[in-house]
Amino acid sequence: MSTPTPTPMVGLREDAVVASEDGVLTITCPFGTVALRGLPPAVEALLGELPGTLAERDDLAERLLAAGGTSHDAALLYLTLSRLHPVLVHAVEPLLRVVPIARGARFQPPDLSPGDTVRLSKFAFVRRSEQGLVLESALSLHRVTLTEDAMPLLAALGRPVMVKEAPEALTHLVAAGLAFAGDDEERDPALRSWDFHDLLFHSRSRSGRHDQPFGATFRFLDDLPPEPVIKPVPEGAAVELYRPCLEEAAAADPPLTTVLETRRSVRRYAGPPTIRQLGELLYRAARVRRMYGPAPGMPYEASSRPYPGGGAVHELELYLTVARCEGLDGGVYYYDPLGHRLVTLPARPEDAQAMLTTASLATGGIADPDVLITVTSRFRRMSWKYSGVAYAATLKTTGVLYQTLYLVATAMGLSPCGLGSGDSDLAARTFGLDWAAESSVGDFLIGGPPAE
Ligand SMILES: Cc1cc2nc3c(=O)[nH]c(=O)nc-3n(C[C@H](O)[C@H](O)[C@H](O)COP(=O)(O)O)c2cc1C
Repeated sequence: MSTPTPTPMVGLREDAVVASEDGVLTITCPFGTVALRGLPPAVEALLGELPGTLAERDDLAERLLAAGGTSHDAALLYLTLSRLHPVLVHAVEPLLRVVPIARGARFQPPDLSPGDTVRLSKFAFVRRSEQGLVLESALSLHRVTLTEDAMPLLAALGRPVMVKEAPEALTHLVAAGLAFAGDDEERDPALRSWDFHDLLFHSRSRSGRHDQPFGATFRFLDDLPPEPVIKPVPEGAAVELYRPCLEEAAAADPPLTTVLETRRSVRRYAGPPTIRQLGELLYRAARVRRMYGPAPGMPYEASSRPYPGGGAVHELELYLTVARCEGLDGGVYYYDPLGHRLVTLPARPEDAQAMLTTASLATGGIADPDVLITVTSRFRRMSWKYSGVAYAATLKTTGVLYQTLYLVATAMGLSPCGLGSGDSDLAARTFGLDWAAESSVGDFLIGGPPAE
């Protein structure tokens, strides 16, 4: 591997803001502030020059002395640098720069011998970003910006590379948690059990381990109109559904505690549900009760439904694949939650059958589905408002819809069963959707009365 002679350097994050007031120096970046007390003016001045620049570590003392600092100031400067983990950039020029991205970032150079081997973490990935190509990992509280000169080393790191091949760069990658010596990563049972995509999703859909925009950022407010709260109803023959009288339903229902305590997943049925029961279930669990907004602080339309929804965004849609339901033809339908109607979709019979077979397989082949309710998400409803948490919130909302369906179906004497897996590509094809814009995030079986 031939790489240019690497030089270790340090600096502060480009966006770090250094300020001094009443004897306290603060260095602030998007995820927090580091405060330092009682620093000599020469050290404060030097730190103020560091955001967005890089300097050789050893040169810093010379710069300090040249600017009138003392050797005591120089010693204090190095001590101070060791306390700047969350804002200090460590570079190996011209290969890579290790940038901290969270408060907990600790750059800990490992004790490696030239004959030790290092390889990339199985959680590491390379992607294009505004800083060019970057190397990141769910495990690491640093981001590494890469140059073309780093490519041979990166390509080699799919397999173990000896430390002596690139001591500075490899030490930096291990110090940042993007690469591991030997099989250190494999030995940790907590790490062995994570899938790559699950750990990345977990690390980025909660705060604390990254520097990305997070929460209700409304990043498209000035660019794109929000998607409407009610999806334009697809064309097709409509089937009006039964609207139950809620007072009568409340009087007939078992008490809440009885419903909670008798709720279970039922996969074998005594017979199919009726269209009246299906209408009652959808009305009580998933209709639009009312619409509201836009309003101050909520620049989009929202709705109220029997199940809660993150931000009242209500991005979820329901599609029914019906095998057997008394009074309703078998086929594929969209549930119009405002009109409380089913709209017939022109799905191919083989796709509808594949949806039912996939659902049956999710129950280990036990259920012969009567009605499969597929939950899709119109993803842009959520990402128009939220950064970082949009998909996580959608899955949570899917969970509360599951529970609402479970409870209403139990109260009605129907057979509910939530499913943990489904084929989102098949669902998009069956319902005529663009997979990236709207596709399935949940699947729920409804049968008639339980067999047992
Ligand atoms: C998110 C979620 C996913 C589930 N996935 C499946 C599944 O794929 N297949 C299945 O047969 N049951 C599935 N179930 C039902 C569970 O197996 C069931 O809730 C659990 O065994 C407890 O039994 P109970 O619901 O009767 O209390 C799922 C339930 C939930 C909430």
